[in-house]
Amino acid sequence: MSEVTCIWQIPAQLGEGPLWAAQENALYWVDILNRQVHRLEPASGQKRSWTFSEPITSLALRQSGGFVGTVTHGFAAIDLDSRTIEPLVPVETDLPDNRFNDGKVDGYGRYWAGTMNRQEKEASGTLYRLDPDLSLHTVDEEYIITNGPAFSLDGTTMYHNDSVKGFVYAFDLQDDGTVRGKRPFTQLTFAKDGAPDGMTVDSENCLWLAHYGGARLTRFAPTGEILEVVPLPVPNVTSCTFGGPNLDTLYITTAAQNMSAAELEKYPLSGSLFAYQPGVKGLPTPQFAG
Ligand code: BGC
Ligand code: CA
Repeated sequence: MSEVTCIWQIPAQLGEGPLWAAQENALYWVDILNRQVHRLEPASGQKRSWTFSEPITSLALRQSGGFVGTVTHGFAAIDLDSRTIEPLVPVETDLPDNRFNDGKVDGYGRYWAGTMNRQEKEASGTLYRLDPDLSLHTVDEEYIITNGPAFSLDGTTMYHNDSVKGFVYAFDLQDDGTVRGKRPFTQLTFAKDGAPDGMTVDSENCLWLAHYGGARLTRFAPTGEILEVVPLPVPNVTSCTFGGPNLDTLYITTAAQNMSAAELEKYPLSGSLFAYQPGVKGLPTPQFAG
């Protein structure tokens, strides 16, 4: 166990999508609203940021090299140095009020990502699966805000959040990528817990959930039982992933969006990147196989 430590003090509007790149010993993460990608080498403390012409809402490593990510309306190949976004598969180009949100690659190299209504009112968001052959599949619909796909250790359960209704759902995941048996895994009450945001599964098959507006991470057993609560010094905790040379550090993103001057004064580290060593390890970051 360790203390939660702020490792990059920065007022990210919407820090999200932490991704550990083992071959570089570096953590990448995005600030959706500031259209940025950030990179930190924890060992040296070296930091770098790139600003794009449009938001990158989630980022993944590609087996063939480089990055793939979700942008406002689709999946794209991303080149940081040239700041190029090369569209791969357009999605919802007819829905201007929507944008992509969270996304994650599973153990089979498939990219799962969902969309949301920017006004956070209409249930126009959909969870998609992009297979390595670049075929696009609709997984689940009618979300105001999709969030946090995550996968159990054996790959047979997919977790996904309806952030506005407060549900973390579990689905049975078949080998071919189809899901069945959607059921509530847990439900948060916004006033008390905040909204379920990003999440990751550890090497003991437990689920770490970021509470947006709830100022904490929670570790759940596969049964849904709460095993640990980790308070953060900021309200809007958006996502987490394991990284570090031993995969024993949780990297945690946060957001400063929609906070008043008084709230920002009270929680001055809002938007910053945090680290915590929970005493359990995570899994290597899967790469998109397309
Ligand atoms: C979305 C935000 C939203 C937040 C709260 C994030 O994943 O990107 O726009 O406000 O979740 O649920
Ligand atoms: Ca999110």
